[in-house]
Amino acid sequence: MRTCSKKKWMSMSRTIEAEEAGSRRPLNVGVVGATGLVGELFLRLLEERSFPLGRLKLFASDRSKGQTRTCQGKTVPVEVQTPDGFDGLDVVFFSSGDDISKEWAPVAARAGAVVIDNSAAFRMDSDKLLCVPEVNGHLLPKGRGGVIIANPNCSTIQLVCALQPLQKDFGLESVHVATYQAVSGGGKEAQNELAVQLKAWAAGESLPSPQIFPHPIAMNCIPQIGSFQDNGFCSEEIKIMRETKKIMGDSSFRVSAFTVRIPAWNAHSEVAWVRLKKQVEPEAVLAAIKKQSGLILEDEPKKGIYPTAHKYSDKDGVAVGRIHRDLDDPNTWILWIVSDNLRKGAALNGIQIAERIFDLKSGS
Ligand SMILES: NC(=O)c1ccc[n+]([C@@H]2O[C@H](COP(=O)([O-])OP(=O)(O)OC[C@H]3O[C@@H](n4cnc5c(N)ncnc54)[C@H](OP(=O)(O)O)[C@@H]3O)[C@@H](O)[C@H]2O)c1
Repeated sequence: MRTCSKKKWMSMSRTIEAEEAGSRRPLNVGVVGATGLVGELFLRLLEERSFPLGRLKLFASDRSKGQTRTCQGKTVPVEVQTPDGFDGLDVVFFSSGDDISKEWAPVAARAGAVVIDNSAAFRMDSDKLLCVPEVNGHLLPKGRGGVIIANPNCSTIQLVCALQPLQKDFGLESVHVATYQAVSGGGKEAQNELAVQLKAWAAGESLPSPQIFPHPIAMNCIPQIGSFQDNGFCSEEIKIMRETKKIMGDSSFRVSAFTVRIPAWNAHSEVAWVRLKKQVEPEAVLAAIKKQSGLILEDEPKKGIYPTAHKYSDKDGVAVGRIHRDLDDPNTWILWIVSDNLRKGAALNGIQIAERIFDLKSGS
């Protein structure tokens, strides 16, 4: 007869408890990368959304040892990951980069946790779900631990949220997207680099040499996010193109992306040229967008009303505006899409995944 290891048994019993208790049982939560931009936002969102929090464990690098963070009135020390550090956790949010996720996410999953990973480590694995709840949330496992769910790239999330109603109602033939991405997408050090350069620029001093971005970011636009491949695309563009098809469960439409880093502090903006399978009237496009949960329609351009990064920084949801038909191709629609890359583009999407898995009433 096969025996069941203690870890596996603990994980199975937690799964059953979670299934039986639904949202009633407080969940033990871990956050890896808890001192970073995404990690700190996870803590704010657990509070804002009254997530039913039991035990909270926080992890970061050696550099943060000795620090604490507070969430829902609990002040918790920051630890470094250890092989048994994830035992007893129901859900662990990872936001520390690809290498840390590759090494530790499987450890947390083997300990029985639902792992929600913000890095790119597992996104394209054929056995891992890449999830945006509004698009493919129906594929999430219910209350089951021991799984790794991948959270998509921030620019991909806001794009697929806007594409979803158009795909559903009219079918997609192709999508071309250009991004204007904020420095927060590069983490705390990237924001710091912009702040230091802006200060030097305002004082008329020469800019300190960049450490994070390949060129000065203050007063600049950089047509590179990530590293270049031989085909001329950079890694961020490849992520957007591949992830979009995987999440939408459709590889029949064409996607092409061009990504640009701009000196916005937070919230990414994108323009997408979306070719539909059908020729439709503007009212139908607007109605499809209006009825989609998580999308905000802000589209009165003549009055200066359209989404901007300033307005949607620190806001939930994905805002869409400047919706108009292409002059040369009646099937192509042009959309301006703005969203907070740290919220819907990372931590909020991760928490929404957990809320679905554990059947929690969203935001409560
Ligand atoms: N920023 C975004 O818009 C965004 C959007 C989607 C996905 N993501 C992904 O989310 C992750 C974090 O991004 P971020 O913007 O929050 O970066 P960040 O501000 O630079 O934070 C990085 C976090 O990782 C921790 N870390 C570094 N080395 C570690 C180690 N050896 N062990 C454990 N933790 C370690 C850091 O801890 P210390 O403070 O101790 O160094 C910090 O908590 C990345 O994978 C990123 O690609 C980011």
